Amino acid sequence: MKKRVLITNQVPDAAYKTLSRKYAVTWNKRQLTERQLLSKAKPFHALLTTLADPVTKPVLSAATVLQCVANYAVGYNNIDLKAARVRGIWVTHTPDVLTEATADAAWALLLACARRVLEGDRMVRSGRFKGAHPLTLLGADLFEKTLGIYGFGRIGKAVARRGKGWNMKILYHQRKREAPSLERRYNARYVSFPTLLKSSDFLSVNSPLTPETRHRFTRKEFKRMKKGSIFINTGRGAIHCERDLAEALEKGWIYSAGLDVYENEPKIEKRLLKRSNCVLLPHIGSATIETRNQMALLAAENIDRVLSGRRPPTPVFSLGNKQL
Ligand code: DGY
Repeated sequence: MKKRVLITNQVPDAAYKTLSRKYAVTWNKRQLTERQLLSKAKPFHALLTTLADPVTKPVLSAATVLQCVANYAVGYNNIDLKAARVRGIWVTHTPDVLTEATADAAWALLLACARRVLEGDRMVRSGRFKGAHPLTLLGADLFEKTLGIYGFGRIGKAVARRGKGWNMKILYHQRKREAPSLERRYNARYVSFPTLLKSSDFLSVNSPLTPETRHRFTRKEFKRMKKGSIFINTGRGAIHCERDLAEALEKGWIYSAGLDVYENEPKIEKRLLKRSNCVLLPHIGSATIETRNQMALLAAENIDRVLSGRRPPTPVFSLGNKQL
């Protein structure tokens, strides 16, 4: 009998096409609540999930034959990792393939904030453009400015690499300092968190959400950021406090902010929606056709490897061989 796979949401066809050659695949094309996922999960050997799926302990307990949860994302804060590990269930994600697209999204926000692209677009469409004016929408230079990166992992490094094109000074902060040879490769300098705050003209958040990074940016940190600086978050929304960010923008502690992620998605702090010095994207960091296809194929490959008794290529944690 073929093993059973549940694809929980709309992902590119590539995942279904690959998996259905070998497995009995059910493709659920609508967002599931925790309760719906719990009632569906029982007969499946693998779940291909997205960030919006709450893969909680009760869901994992209900799925009695489950061997693998393959998340279609690099992040996995929607999954109870501890419960999965205890039950011997592999959890996999899709790193690397989305690094460049996500770094591009951070830069799209950075440029849009610095050069007030959305305000300009709105001005033209609303008929307020009356010809070039010497003082229309003055923004911020990028050339030779300081780019601070909070979380110097794969995506943080790709964001830094792009800064070379603008001759930027690169600073970074994370729990552990990188090797000097790596710092030289990126022309990046490790600094303390307070220095990152006070020295960065552009501060890009690229870390995962962990108990340590949750609410790392609150009122206190926004107040300490360099006057006129721009805050970008393509990591996870809960790394900053959304209410405090709204206050920072209202009071001019920072110049503007570009966000792809929110504290309580899909809800967004209403005060942010009213700000013109804020660019808001609907969590599309990795959303290019090529990248999303590769993510679907990688998630499918993870599932195929586990269900055929081999190690998955991109596990979140490693399980012993007896789980294969
Ligand atoms: C991820 O994969 O975790 C990203 O947030 C998707 O954009």
